[in-house]
Amino acid sequence: MILIPALTLSISLAVVYGFEPIDRYSIVTLHNPTRNASSTSTPMQVGNGDFAFGADVTGLQTFLPYAIMSNWGWKNDTLPPNKTMEDVLDYEGVSWWNHDRLVTYMFGGEPTIQQWLIANPNRASLGRTGLLFLSEDGTRENVKESDLTDAHQELDLWTGTLTSQFFWQGEEITVITYSHQTSSSISISIRSALLSQGRLGVYLDFPWNDGSNKFDAPFVGVYNATANHTTTLRTGGQYGSNVEAQIIHTQDSATFFTSVGGDPLSILRDSPSTHQYNIHPSQMTGSEFSIVVSYSFAEPSYIPSVPEVAASSLEGWADFWSSTGFVDVWTGSSDPRAEELQRRIILSRYLMRVNEAGVLPPQESGLVNNGWYGKYHFEMIFSHLGHWALWNNWDLLDRSSSIYSRYLATSIQRAQVQEHFDTGARWPKMTDPSGRSAPGTLSIDVIILQSVNWDTLGEINELLIWQQPHPLVFAEYEYRAFPTNATLDKWRDVVTATADWMADFAWYNQSTRVYDLGPPMEVVAEDTSPNVTTNPAFELAYWRLGLSLASTWMERLGEDVPDSWTTVKNNLAPLPIDNGTYSVYEGIGSDFWYTPTYTNDHPALVGLYGWLPETPGLNISMAQVTAEKVWTYWNISNCWGWDFPMLAMSAARQGQPEQAIEWLLHPLFQFDDVGMPIGGVRVPTPYFPGSGGLLYAIAMMAEGWDGSQGMAPGFPMSGWNVRVEGLTNLEKKIMILSPNKPGEIRDLLMASNMSSLKDVYPIFQIPFMNLFFQSLRHFNPMLPATTITRLVGTNVEVDILLAWVVVGY
Ligand SMILES: *[C@@H]1O[C@H](CO)[C@@H](O)[C@H](O)[C@H]1NC(C)=O
Ligand SMILES: *[C@@H]1O[C@H](CO)[C@@H](O)[C@H](O)[C@H]1NC(C)=O
Ligand SMILES: *[C@@H]1O[C@H](CO)[C@@H](O)[C@H](O)[C@H]1NC(C)=O
Ligand SMILES: *[C@@H]1O[C@H](CO)[C@@H](O)[C@H](O)[C@H]1NC(C)=O
Ligand SMILES: *[C@@H]1O[C@H](CO)[C@@H](O)[C@H](O)[C@H]1NC(C)=O
Ligand SMILES: *[C@@H]1O[C@H](CO)[C@@H](O)[C@H](O)[C@H]1NC(C)=O
Ligand SMILES: *[C@@H]1O[C@H](CO)[C@@H](O)[C@H](O)[C@H]1NC(C)=O
Ligand SMILES: *[C@@H]1O[C@H](CO)[C@@H](O)[C@H](O)[C@H]1NC(C)=O
Ligand SMILES: *[C@@H]1O[C@H](CO)[C@@H](O)[C@H](O)[C@H]1NC(C)=O
Ligand SMILES: *[C@@H]1O[C@H](CO)[C@@H](O)[C@H](O)[C@H]1NC(C)=O
Ligand SMILES: *[C@@H]1O[C@H](CO)[C@@H](O)[C@H](O)[C@H]1NC(C)=O
Ligand SMILES: *[C@@H]1O[C@H](CO)[C@@H](O)[C@H](O)[C@H]1NC(C)=O
Repeated sequence: MILIPALTLSISLAVVYGFEPIDRYSIVTLHNPTRNASSTSTPMQVGNGDFAFGADVTGLQTFLPYAIMSNWGWKNDTLPPNKTMEDVLDYEGVSWWNHDRLVTYMFGGEPTIQQWLIANPNRASLGRTGLLFLSEDGTRENVKESDLTDAHQELDLWTGTLTSQFFWQGEEITVITYSHQTSSSISISIRSALLSQGRLGVYLDFPWNDGSNKFDAPFVGVYNATANHTTTLRTGGQYGSNVEAQIIHTQDSATFFTSVGGDPLSILRDSPSTHQYNIHPSQMTGSEFSIVVSYSFAEPSYIPSVPEVAASSLEGWADFWSSTGFVDVWTGSSDPRAEELQRRIILSRYLMRVNEAGVLPPQESGLVNNGWYGKYHFEMIFSHLGHWALWNNWDLLDRSSSIYSRYLATSIQRAQVQEHFDTGARWPKMTDPSGRSAPGTLSIDVIILQSVNWDTLGEINELLIWQQPHPLVFAEYEYRAFPTNATLDKWRDVVTATADWMADFAWYNQSTRVYDLGPPMEVVAEDTSPNVTTNPAFELAYWRLGLSLASTWMERLGEDVPDSWTTVKNNLAPLPIDNGTYSVYEGIGSDFWYTPTYTNDHPALVGLYGWLPETPGLNISMAQVTAEKVWTYWNISNCWGWDFPMLAMSAARQGQPEQAIEWLLHPLFQFDDVGMPIGGVRVPTPYFPGSGGLLYAIAMMAEGWDGSQGMAPGFPMSGWNVRVEGLTNLEKKIMILSPNKPGEIRDLLMASNMSSLKDVYPIFQIPFMNLFFQSLRHFNPMLPATTITRLVGTNVEVDILLAWVVVGY
């Protein structure tokens, strides 16, 4: 009864307005990366966000030991000579004055313990797999990549299938590699006539991971320090379902398990002095050999079978590509830059899901290699994870965004130990699964520029503050997408503790009668002297935004907004202005624009209006003048990673879309052939905040922001045809609609002219469908609450639901 008019209306809408679903499959697979030789800097990867497997041209690590890494594989190195764990627990850093508060920091203490705390725990590579080439008499052949011919490798993004084909001694070999989506397991399927001649096998090897290197790239761990660690092999059916053999690997106090299953096999240690294990098919009759290699922290009771790994990959990836956000900037665009931008979007989407969709916030290099010992940085959480909210990948974001609840207790403790605050949580900077804040390392900028000459003891980690408001933004995003009491309750404690610390940290200045931020503190760019840094522009604006989001949260909960938040929010120092522009911090001096110390790092001044929305007291015209001055005077050749998306967002919000595109495709913002963002002069490749930042900026430019007009407002009017499906319209429209006021939705629908694409299009976004559905349930409580989840991702059905909603009203 309802469906018939609905169908009609749906079809007519499609005809009249030309809604054709984006051909996602074609656009994704068009960008399948291919190689005909290994890259010496980046692997091809398969993975699932908590586990990733980096392969050379053979689809394994036959020639190059790219990392196999996870979010669970961490280890501690041995303690410094003559030190005990008690010394570690007793470590205490220096105390500096923050106005009249003596704050105890985690730096400047006993140096060997401090260094141990910086470097531990560190992330380990779990191992290496490779093809075993054998001569006719069964002895091992020492084959190099140059001995292979006609190599060709393709990664099918739609299914997560890595297919590698090549010839050795005239015989073709095909290797197909998949990653399981819910365990750290890969399947390896080898096809070759050489198998039936007994001339091919697989080897496993295990590295010694020593945590002393801040950066371990392109490879993690070493394979020749065999005396430093142990492995043991056990076989037989009793070590878990599907497990034929298991290797137990112990490095210092860390023990990991590697379980092998699949086709019948035999396995032998290559020699007692190495950790290499050689696997041969038990049956030499076939020309196909498939195994699963599964890595785990504990003894598994079960490992998946070869078909299960493949099926999991196919299903997980197809679901990812077809059911959540998608942006097509390429189809129908005449601007030649569209092709490269589309390539970056697709490959970034893939790599983010492989490397940055796990239970922990990602390290800068994801699961490709190690930077900062494999640890993660709370201020970079936004660049790594913010895009998941905008692209509607709530299932992936939920895995890690709970880090704020998980680290709440240790962050409350940090505020008490450091500042002796009674309330509030001080979020860490560089941290690890223990939630401890690492004492800090020398800023890479200090190392590179050598221009900062104060006594740097790694204080940056403890003095940075711009990570503090991030959880308030994540909470807000989630509420805009899921405006329920459950969302309000879920984030309540994090929101209050975050804002309490922000209010406490602001210092009431009796003479100016405003609240100051700092000193001491470090700004985003980490390049000012902490003891003189006061009232930095970006941090002040972010404080205002954060405190107002937190206040709104309390209002939504029906609770009182703490007076301290309101007082601080309304009386924070004004943004520092000098000679007609905003300055990095109050009192930096007018000549900072011409001083390399201050113009060689993250240009956070452009984030004042671009990345951040308009905040109270911001003069948009001055923000624009400031941003343009950054474009001229900043040393752009020293900008890196997420700086470029931040510059693009600033240009876009200020109505300069042509400039926004230029920033996203700036010659210094590069992505390699498989989409890995290049680290440049500063850090090893990949530097994933560049990819996350790109996707965040694309979503904003394509979908719009609070107050933007029209479709794809961040893209130039001519030359670009931008189509968007299923993004979370976090800023613009959800503000207008309130689930508790179904009348508003009805009014909007009625007022909606339905005569232009612009009016209708956003209604197709999934969160809207949730809102509509909720409002429908208001009128008809009998409607099942789950219906909407089944509609997600199928455009046709979503069209029907829209039509049904219209008809229903
Ligand atoms: C291999 O790749 C290189 C670099 O992309 C290319 O120049 C060359 O033509 C390719 N060779 C084959 C046989 O595809
Ligand atoms: C490393 O040692 C610290 C104690 O400083 C402990 O909290 C942590 O759990 C250990 N981590 C690993 C992976 O052993
Ligand atoms: C460790 O202690 C031993 C015995 O007291 C001493 O000989 C050695 O010099 C100490 N090593 C270090 C690095 O302090
Ligand atoms: C900052 O001030 C503290 C005293 O509060 C002092 O101990 C420290 O050395 C100063 N740091 C720098 C980098 O000047
Ligand atoms: C391991 O190999 C590296 C690089 O070739 C070399 O520098 C190192 O000395 C070797 N270590 C051992 C223990 O053989
Ligand atoms: C092996 O372990 C010892 C003791 O922990 C350490 O001093 C040495 O550097 C390690 N070797 C390598 C190659 O990491
Ligand atoms: C949400 O919480 C508010 C305030 O406690 C309450 O008035 C309202 O009924 C709740 N709504 C739902 C749907 O539970
Ligand atoms: C109060 O603010 C003024 C102007 O920013 C500054 O010079 C002064 O040092 C501040 N007072 C204190 C006690 O920090
Ligand atoms: C003030 O800004 C103008 C325009 O950018 C510039 O020409 C002038 O040199 C600046 N003055 C000072 C004191 O920096
Ligand atoms: C905003 O800044 C512009 C200069 O960029 C200035 O002319 C204008 O007066 C400022 N507006 C306010 C309200 O301060
Ligand atoms: C600008 O950055 C480049 C690249 O890192 C560097 O070589 C150069 O010295 C910087 N210039 C200035 C003026 O700081
Ligand atoms: C409806 O669409 C027409 C044609 O695009 C436009 O002129 C009119 O202003 C629109 N009305 C509303 C309420 O948006």
